[in-house]
Parts: sequence; structure tokens; C-alpha cells
Amino acid sequence: MTPLKTRRAALRDLEMLVAHRRGMWFDMGYKNKAELEAADKVYRRWAKPRLKSGKLIGFIVEADGRVAGSGCLWLKPVQPVPVPSRPGFKGGGQPYLLSMYTEHPFRGKGVATKIVKESVRWAKAKGFPRMTLHASDMGKSIYEKLGFKQTWEMKLELKPKRNR
Ligand SMILES: CC(C)(COP(=O)(O)OP(=O)(O)OC[C@H]1O[C@@H](n2cnc3c(N)ncnc32)[C@H](O)[C@@H]1OP(=O)(O)O)[C@@H](O)C(=O)NCCC(=O)NCCS
Repeated sequence: MTPLKTRRAALRDLEMLVAHRRGMWFDMGYKNKAELEAADKVYRRWAKPRLKSGKLIGFIVEADGRVAGSGCLWLKPVQPVPVPSRPGFKGGGQPYLLSMYTEHPFRGKGVATKIVKESVRWAKAKGFPRMTLHASDMGKSIYEKLGFKQTWEMKLELKPKRNR
């Protein structure tokens, strides 16, 4: 395999990013084709303007002349909170890592690790105080090795009432 190379995603990479996101859900156990297709559509519509405006930053790793994997940082709006390294943090965009996916033939070769490192480097260089993400079972150990810590977010599924 040739050495891994990283580049930033451009708008022309949108379809590949959508396909990688679908691959991520599929490998995480979401197998319903209709639901995946609906999710592709809304993700494409969500990602496009953000890629254009720079609120979504894609990192693509290539090897052997082809795409091996990708991941994206979304500058997620957050409320002001105490940040020890940034007293008086006013809130605003906080980098959130999403849509991490490595093509099957390239798994276990450090592709995802490279994407995470690159995105951390990017966020640090821009002066952001922290980064967050939600880890899949497959991704967890990669993030832990790179210093990410478990937090205590809680969740309640709000099921719509059925019409009678
Ligand atoms: C998770 C994923 C992105 C890892 O990509 P990768 O390029 O193979 O990862 P790396 O080669 O950088 O790192 C491999 C490490 O991840 C872990 N790992 C990778 N694939 C794994 C798997 N299938 N099951 C469990 N752990 C796995 C291993 O701990 C491995 O550590 P090691 O280097 O000590 O062996 C890839 O398996 C994938 O696309 N999975 C499906 C989508 C997904 O879960 N995305 C993450 C969402 S948070």
C-alpha cells in the first residue's frame, strides 16, 4: 500500500461523503434500505451548504490512488459554558467529529487514526478549546487512544403520539 495522504474535501466530494456516511450507518447495524436512502437525502441537503460555508470540514485519506476513508468536522453551535482553558468562553462553533468511515480493504491500517489526528490538529490550530463526538463500538478505541474521554450526556427518545 502507498503511504496514506490526507486532503481536505471539496464540494465535488459530496457524493462520496454521503456514501461513506451511509456505509457508516450500515456497518453500525442500520440495514433498512428505505431509511438509509431517506437519510442520504437529508444528509446531502444538510452537508452541501455547510461544506460551502466552511461549517463542515471534510478530511479524506487516500492510498493506492483511491479514497480509503473520510471523516468530517462540523462546527456545531454550542451555548456558553465554563471552559478552564478559555475563561469567558462565549459559545459558538465547537468542532464535532462525525461520519467516520474507512473503506473495507483499508481497515486496520491507520486510516481513521490519521483522520482523527488531522482533525484534532486542525481544531487546535484554529484555537478551538475542545472537540466532541459520539463513538460507535468500532470507533471507540481509536478515540480513547487519542485522548478522548467518555462524558455523561443523557438521552430521551421523544416518540411521536400516534394519530387515532
Ligand atoms: C471505525 C473505523 C472508522 C476504523 O477505521 P480504521 O481505518 O480501520 O481504523 P484504524 O486503522 O485507524 O484503527 C484501527 C483500530 O481501531 C480498532 N478497530 C478498527 N476496526 C475495528 C473493528 N471492526 N472492531 C473493533 N475495533 C476495531 C482497533 O482497536 C484498531 O486498533 P489497533 O490499531 O490497536 O489494532 C472503521 O472500522 C469503520 O468505518 N467502521 C464503520 C463505521 C464506524 O463505526 N465509524 C465510526 C463512527 S464513530
